Amino acid sequence: MRRVTVRQVLRSAGRASLHLVTGAGLSLVCYLMIGLMLVAATATVTVIGAGMLPETVRALRGLAGFERRRTAAWLGSPVPEKYLPLDQGSLLERVRAAGTDPGTYRDLRWLAAQLLYGLVLCYAAMVLWPLGLLVDGAWCGLARRTPVLLPRLTDLADFQARISRLLLLPSPSARLSERIDQLAATRAGAVAAHGAELRRIERDLHDGAQAHLVALSMRLGLARRAYDRDPTAARSLLDTAQDQAEEALAELRHVVRGIHPPVLTDRGLVGAVRALAAGSGLEVTVVAHGLADGPGYESRAPAAVEAAAYFVVAEGLTNAAKHSGAERAGVELRRAERALRVRVWDEGRGGADESAGSGLLGVRRRVAALDGTVCLTSPSGGPTVVEVELPCVW
Ligand SMILES: Nc1ncnc2c1ncn2[C@@H]1O[C@H](COP(=O)(O)OP(=O)(O)OP(=O)(O)O)[C@@H](O)[C@H]1O
Ligand SMILES: [Mg+2]
Repeated sequence: MRRVTVRQVLRSAGRASLHLVTGAGLSLVCYLMIGLMLVAATATVTVIGAGMLPETVRALRGLAGFERRRTAAWLGSPVPEKYLPLDQGSLLERVRAAGTDPGTYRDLRWLAAQLLYGLVLCYAAMVLWPLGLLVDGAWCGLARRTPVLLPRLTDLADFQARISRLLLLPSPSARLSERIDQLAATRAGAVAAHGAELRRIERDLHDGAQAHLVALSMRLGLARRAYDRDPTAARSLLDTAQDQAEEALAELRHVVRGIHPPVLTDRGLVGAVRALAAGSGLEVTVVAHGLADGPGYESRAPAAVEAAAYFVVAEGLTNAAKHSGAERAGVELRRAERALRVRVWDEGRGGADESAGSGLLGVRRRVAALDGTVCLTSPSGGPTVVEVELPCVW
């Protein structure tokens, strides 16, 4: 038990040291970068080398981007970035964008700080290692206690990651404006999706139920006129009219199913997905976490979210049966704190391409309209996985 603990401590100290050493390496690159920035600034002031500034700022963004990814990997949460575009407009506009972008000042602030703490923390790690091995070795060996110094390396790496995150994070107003852009885009998507849905329903009604009802009305008119003259012909017209009425009803049911599948109301999301799986022609495993298997009205996601999840699964399984060549597929539904997660996979040949059809694109639009996200992975050779997250309050 104690051996495992020591091994764990050594492993996390090693990981932390790697983080600190790459931080120190980055600091050395930062020295070069700061020199380059000074040259670019001077060249810009003297006008001759103004073109250098956007390119140098681009390199600075690359460096800060590397630190963002490194920090995100350590902390386990992404560090968002927000910059003005550098490749649009004339040279003067690009120089202005590079010089006035708050992102440039954020990166410079981090650059200056990284020069210092990157190296200092790495030196601290270099002192901590021999000291830790000596002190903790004696402490654990003689007093049989848990190590005290080596775990501090993880604290140092944590400290570095947190400072970097703090310095590189866009200001709250920049994050807010990004969120507003995102919401405006999803709202436009929702309006477009709504319009497309209305047109589809209109077409379905026009070509289906309405056509049957028009023919039905004509047959009823003919039957009424033939009623006294030729009751046999009138009866046969009424029989056809009845068939027509049933066809119109079937069409209407089809349209209703496309809006909100009644099976969702009857059997709940998990039941409805099981029904889809059973009818898919594949061997499908359905797993549900935290969701009632049945109508379960108290703990259900909003109807729009359930309907979207249902259509995602329907499209995923139809595609798996139609294109993948797989015999087995799976669906996972998971209730998260503020979202419903849906995962549909198959063991087929992969190569799904959103631009090659309308189904996957429809899924993306439907999910975006609810401010959700879609992640499709389908390398050639498979497997294909569609992961969808639909935000919702339970
Ligand atoms: N699970 C899958 N495995 C392999 N290829 C797939 C898979 N899903 C989709 N594809 C490929 O990606 C393309 C696009 O899929 P999409 O669902 O958008 O359109 P579609 O299924 O062809 O038509 P529809 O509009 O009826 O859905 C498909 O034509 C197919 O070649
Ligand atoms: Mg499809």
